[in-house]
Amino acid sequence: MRRTVVVRIARLGLAAAALLLAGGALFNVAALSKPQHATPARSVDRAAQRMLDDGRHVFRQETFGDESFWTGVLQLNRAIAGAKHGGVGGGVSPKTALSVGLKVDSSRLPKSVVKAIKAGKVDLNDPATTLALLKLNAVVGVRGHVSGDGKRLTSVGITCAVCHSTVDDSFTKGIGRRLDGWPNRDLNVGAIVGLSPNLKPVADLLGTDVDTVKKVLAAWGPGKFDAELFLDGKGFRPDGRSAATLIPPAYGLSGVNLHTFTGWGTVTYWNAFVANLEMHGEGNFTDARLDDANKFPVAARNGFGHVRHRVDKVSGKLPALHYYQLSLRAPKPPSTSYNHAAAARGKAVFNGAGKCASCHMAPTFSEPGFNMHKPSEICTDSFQADRSPDGMYRTTPLRGLWAHAKGGYYHDGRYKTLGEVVDHYDSCMSLGLNARQKSDLVQYLKSL
Ligand code: HEC
Ligand code: HEC
Repeated sequence: MRRTVVVRIARLGLAAAALLLAGGALFNVAALSKPQHATPARSVDRAAQRMLDDGRHVFRQETFGDESFWTGVLQLNRAIAGAKHGGVGGGVSPKTALSVGLKVDSSRLPKSVVKAIKAGKVDLNDPATTLALLKLNAVVGVRGHVSGDGKRLTSVGITCAVCHSTVDDSFTKGIGRRLDGWPNRDLNVGAIVGLSPNLKPVADLLGTDVDTVKKVLAAWGPGKFDAELFLDGKGFRPDGRSAATLIPPAYGLSGVNLHTFTGWGTVTYWNAFVANLEMHGEGNFTDARLDDANKFPVAARNGFGHVRHRVDKVSGKLPALHYYQLSLRAPKPPSTSYNHAAAARGKAVFNGAGKCASCHMAPTFSEPGFNMHKPSEICTDSFQADRSPDGMYRTTPLRGLWAHAKGGYYHDGRYKTLGEVVDHYDSCMSLGLNARQKSDLVQYLKSL
């Protein structure tokens, strides 16, 4: 008896399934008879918008679990909080934080706080205020977790925005609205890492002592970082100067083939590299080129070309992050920031007598195709190129040059002004440009 009931129910189920199938087929036939283009296009737009939103969030807010390094190893949370708040030393006041180039996102400040700052009622010399700002998630590119009572900084981590965003100073210097993609040329990464009460693991990793690590970090200076230090352990160039490079813009990169000053790979290659090997997030990363123990002794010894984590906190975020970055256009120079007539004449020099456009081609002002050159082609030394897999330099995209004048030009900022860059090319390529052509060319570069 019971069995027949079961069979009957099963039969009913089958009948229902058949009806559903028939309905589905009818529905499909109806769908086919409609024009197809409108719906999919809208769904592409929607997906694109979602990617942008997700990517912006990753760029600004995601630490990829790098707290395990910045807190677990470097213990920077303790240095920031200071002894009074369960850490070590005097702590980091907002004044100190701003002086090492950290930026505050004014949109995260409640009106009451804005009022209090304006009235001079907020103590910018007190590390407790830094904790309050971190609790508001107002420090660009730094994520801190503050205990419920506001007295302890239990962890800190960093995001891409700490180096690749700045603010427009609309509130006051160092406090304003975010400018994503603008390199933070005020940020003294070396000084910040140097605050760590626990640099021994870094020294061990590099096979050196803590004093040497401190010297290397102190030599970086504002706007610079050394993304290759953890690969080859080279803190200084043969001439004794720091081996660090400038922090480049993360805007104006869409349409550019290889990235970084020395062309390590695509944007998304480099994003994975940085999230794992520089920020020390917890993800997976593969690059067998890092197994070359002659070129990359530190990376080869530590297996950095084959990073694996049980839970990969990086890979799932790469697609949206890539999408967002490619959407960051270079900012247009303010109309009053250059001489328009001179720039128009300079354009002719750029494309003609200066031969610049033989490498820097519109619209990216890098090169379509393989955008790499031997150091000798631009009369430059090979130190930084030799720290990369191919030993070459990538033709830098030039749009938005005006927005990162601080720190100089070329990968290490060796030319303080655009005039010096032009003089360099003039002698390197025996261009024979006169003074007028050179200054026109500089005005054109400022107009890009
Ligand atoms: C501590 C500072 C710092 C952080 C954090 C950082 N970067 Fe960078 N970034 C640099 C430096 C320095 C370079 C240049 C490296 C080189 O050429 O060797 C660079 C290069 C790049 C480039 C290549 C730009 C070009 O001109 O081709 C991209 C893209 C980039 N970073 C994206 C990111 C993303 C995305 C994140 C977060 C996952 C990130 N960076 C985190 C400092 C940083
Ligand atoms: C052979 C190819 C080539 C030619 C020709 C060339 N460049 Fe470059 N340019 C490069 C490369 C490669 C770099 C990166 C150098 C570095 O970072 O060390 C660069 C960097 C630059 C930079 C620095 C950008 C920055 O953000 O630091 C400027 C400015 C520049 N070039 C302008 C010019 C001008 C102006 C001309 C013509 C007078 C010119 N270039 C000709 C390949 C070229």
